Amino acid sequence: MSQSNNLPPWEGYHRQIEDWLAGCLPEDAPARLRQAMAYSLLAGGKRLRPMLAMEFCRVCGGPAETALPVGCAVELLHTYSLIHDDLPAMDNDNLRRGKPTCHIAFDEATAILAGDALQAQAFAALAAAPLPEERRLACVAELAAAAGAAGMCGGQQLDLDGDGRPHTAEELAQLQALKTGALFRAACRMGVYCAGGTDAQLAAADGYAAALGLAFQIRDDMLDEIADQGLLGKPVGSDRQQGKYTFLTTLGLDECARRVGALTDRAIEALRSLPESGHLAALAWQLAQRGS
Ligand code: IPE
Ligand code: IPE
Ligand code: MG
Ligand code: MG
Ligand code: MG
Repeated sequence: MSQSNNLPPWEGYHRQIEDWLAGCLPEDAPARLRQAMAYSLLAGGKRLRPMLAMEFCRVCGGPAETALPVGCAVELLHTYSLIHDDLPAMDNDNLRRGKPTCHIAFDEATAILAGDALQAQAFAALAAAPLPEERRLACVAELAAAAGAAGMCGGQQLDLDGDGRPHTAEELAQLQALKTGALFRAACRMGVYCAGGTDAQLAAADGYAAALGLAFQIRDDMLDEIADQGLLGKPVGSDRQQGKYTFLTTLGLDECARRVGALTDRAIEALRSLPESGHLAALAWQLAQRGS
């Protein structure tokens, strides 16, 4: 399905992503493990990362659908990161995507395994993606780097290491670039790869993702305090309860809001060289105001 340049493509992408995810889990897995994977994966979620991959692919000249499997691979990996992030050993949260967290609905061991298996499924999706070999390999390397010790897992480690002591805004920005930013960046870059994009397009994706990812985590930290829990779908006040040092505790609400605005401008500015990037600009703007 190709999208008109004037209509936001997100609804169409969202439907395709939900359908793809609903069909991707292995039939022959033990029932309880498969149920736990499906429980977290198909619980909703904004699906931002696959949408970004698809839209970057379109903006760089490919059909958006070309990036559907690789975008969904990022979503599989992201879902695993959320299941593990919620575990008692990490954030010990009991609500995610509007439902009891995986370890509450099932049990801790099953939640750990469901996360592990979703991560493996992400790489299976990349391996099977119908792309020229060079582009497929670029996506595998990109996601592995973004997910691993120098990416999301590294950021989660820094987040845990910092528990119990104040962080400067610079330290927080460094850890968020790994914890949250890395997967956003991977999604955007993989969209460019899928279209066979240029180095200049990759640089635009990097600039957009870096600013968007940081704005996204600052807004996430704000929402932990100010959101409506029903809308947010995860516990409000969780960071405060755990005494976490976040952008909110370090900068305060007003400065957080100012930075989200400035970073959103920077994200939009990074798109300047990409014609047809209006929907990505509008998305950055919407995310700055989001309530969930
Ligand atoms: C939540 O990510 C975790 C962070 C990286 C801050 P999202 O806000 O994208 O969560 P879902 O996928 O919509 O549930
Ligand atoms: C964790 O950040 C992001 C990852 C899962 C890597 P948070 O701990 O702030 O995410 P939420 O608020 O639980 O979604
Ligand atoms: Mg966390
Ligand atoms: Mg958390
Ligand atoms: Mg949070």
